[in-house]
Amino acid sequence: MKKNEHWWKQSVVYQIYPRSFMDSNGDGIGDIQGIIKKLDYLKLLGVDVIWLSPVYDSPNDDNGYDIRDYQAIMNEFGTMADFDNMLEEVHKRDMKLIMDLVVNHTSDEHAWFVQSKSSKDTPYRDYYIWRSLPNNWGSVFSGPAWEYDTTTNEYYLHIFSKKQPDLNWENPKLRQEVYQMMGFWLNKGIDGFRMDVINFISKHPELPDGSKDKEQQYGDGSPYFMNGPRIHEFLHEMNQEVLSKYPVMTVGEMPGASPDDAILYTDPNRNEVNMIFTFEHMDLDSAPGGKWNLKPLYLPDLKENLAKWQTALHNKGWNSLYWNNHDQPRIVSRFGDDQNYRVESAKMLATCLHFMQGTPYIYQGEEIGMTNVKFDSLEDYRDIETINMYHERKSLGYSHEEIMTSIYTKGRDNARTPMQWDDSENGGFTSGTPWIKVNQRYKEINVKAALEDPNSIFYFYKRLISLRKEMDIIVEGSFELLLKDNTEIFAYERKWNDDHLIVLCNFSHSEVSIEEDVLLKKMQEYQVVISNYEPLNTGILRPYETIVLRK
Ligand code: GLC
Ligand code: CA
Repeated sequence: MKKNEHWWKQSVVYQIYPRSFMDSNGDGIGDIQGIIKKLDYLKLLGVDVIWLSPVYDSPNDDNGYDIRDYQAIMNEFGTMADFDNMLEEVHKRDMKLIMDLVVNHTSDEHAWFVQSKSSKDTPYRDYYIWRSLPNNWGSVFSGPAWEYDTTTNEYYLHIFSKKQPDLNWENPKLRQEVYQMMGFWLNKGIDGFRMDVINFISKHPELPDGSKDKEQQYGDGSPYFMNGPRIHEFLHEMNQEVLSKYPVMTVGEMPGASPDDAILYTDPNRNEVNMIFTFEHMDLDSAPGGKWNLKPLYLPDLKENLAKWQTALHNKGWNSLYWNNHDQPRIVSRFGDDQNYRVESAKMLATCLHFMQGTPYIYQGEEIGMTNVKFDSLEDYRDIETINMYHERKSLGYSHEEIMTSIYTKGRDNARTPMQWDDSENGGFTSGTPWIKVNQRYKEINVKAALEDPNSIFYFYKRLISLRKEMDIIVEGSFELLLKDNTEIFAYERKWNDDHLIVLCNFSHSEVSIEEDVLLKKMQEYQVVISNYEPLNTGILRPYETIVLRK
């Protein structure tokens, strides 16, 4: 038996953002029947697991991450019968399905919150976090993290939008309700959970003010709500009471978690979660003050960071590997070149990630190299984070152009434009009017074109996925960074018994030559596993060239 016997260690996950995946009934909104129609496509790609962003009943303040009823399906997406049908169809194709678990907060329209705010005496009062005086924390989605409620003259905490009140995990009854709800889905046969901002559920009991600079309006509460005092206890309890009873996988979304935190969260002996999503590599192109303050990526920072995670968790925990999700801009527009080298850079970025140790995640459209969008008007944007930030920065005196540049570079709607299936109107996503505009490049970039081209990004991803199944070294091997100080090439070596792999990735749009003799020699002796150009074997890497070599 292989050392890493857990199924999720050999798996590749594909994330579906249901609203933008496939519309089956022409209302402009993706839905479950639309997903079912495309399962054969995902099977062809070769992914093992589908992660479904929330499909629960929701007023959609934050596109389903504000849940009104955990045990009902959003009307726009279909019915519970559709869901059951989808799960069956996924399993029929020998794939698995994991769901989003959003339990740091609910919608303010959830029955618990409606009760909670009705009176100070209801048993539901304590399901949420109420105070007569708020602290100075700011919300992730701009403005204060506290909302005053007139019925009982108190404030409730909402780290995200005011329609997303935070649940009070100190309350054991609330925790039991969450575990029961998880059981409802697990008993249907789902294969695990992606846990939304799960390291936010334990807050510092005193909710102290956060630090802030003079010019800042709100304090930074994150030291008091990220990786809080009881977080490991809560996750362990959830594991023991629910998860351990099912053969499932779990991945915790954890902003602000370091590799040391990650070891504690994912050490198999501690029984918390299988892996986490780190944010560290996604923050490297931000200046102080958060993601909207742009800074170009300096490649050595990325190399150092990913290498740190690779080595820290080796034999101790487990990594997840991602460039993209519904909260991040498109990677080919971000760290690649979506104009002159779209195909080359998309393949290079995929290679760089997929040869690392961990479970890779592919976000819908990444496998065809979908790009960021630039809508002229704020009216065309849908994301609450973007819209709130726009107004906040406007009132602080930023220019329209300056704010739009941030949105073009980092806005979440970059990832949320409809999936581009073909070159027909609306990219074949809907026969109606899409809920958000389709990326103008759909005629050039779409699934149909990708499937017809044997050299497409799609088939490159397919090959990467199958290599992970063929080569144990990808799952098991150690990691060592090569050419550490090189500012253009990301190179690393994997080792597993006698097997060796060398992964070379040129992150620049120029030719770069490798001047290290030892490496040059290996390049001549080793076999090519995969590459995005016809290999030259001269020690020169062309723009965005990638090549993987095996001893
Ligand atoms: C997570 C989700 C994001 C959502 C937020 C609040 O970060 O990925 O989309 O807005 O949590 O639920
Ligand atoms: Ca629909």
